[in-house]
Amino acid sequence: MAVERTLILIKPDAVRRRLAGDILRRIESRGFTVVGGKLLTVTRELGEEHYGEHREKPFFGELVEFITSGPTWALVVEGEGVIATMRKTIGATNPANAEPGTIRGDLASSMPDNLVHGSDSPESAQREVALWFSADELG
Ligand code: RTP
Ligand code: MG
Repeated sequence: MAVERTLILIKPDAVRRRLAGDILRRIESRGFTVVGGKLLTVTRELGEEHYGEHREKPFFGELVEFITSGPTWALVVEGEGVIATMRKTIGATNPANAEPGTIRGDLASSMPDNLVHGSDSPESAQREVALWFSADELG
């Protein structure tokens, strides 16, 4: 399997609840490497661009409000098959459906407070890493 990079966001609800360390521990415990990271409060412009695929959905406004509501940790995480494996580690989109053992299944209970974002495909990962980070910010 190929070594890949994925964009992981520790969202504002997780930062507010002091869960960033727990989430980072789970990523590192799987053997993945953080090759870039920063704490930032997402602008409306970046939030709308990041979630551009959902622009026409009824929940788009709420989604952008949520992601801009406080500081977010943005991480680029590297490893073999990291895109799909991190999606499994994060769990189902709605925490109410997320399996115990996953980040959402252990630490969250309802939408939109689902704690973490992970790129959903190699194409999304490439787009999102380039959107959030410049080349000189990555190891
Ligand atoms: P994310 O992009 O945040 O990692 O979440 P995801 O891939 O698991 O889910 P996605 O389908 O990309 O949805 C992005 C975010 O939109 C909100 N959402 N609300 N009310 C709804 O039906 C609904 N569906 C999605 C969630 O906050 C989700 O994280
Ligand atoms: Mg998504």
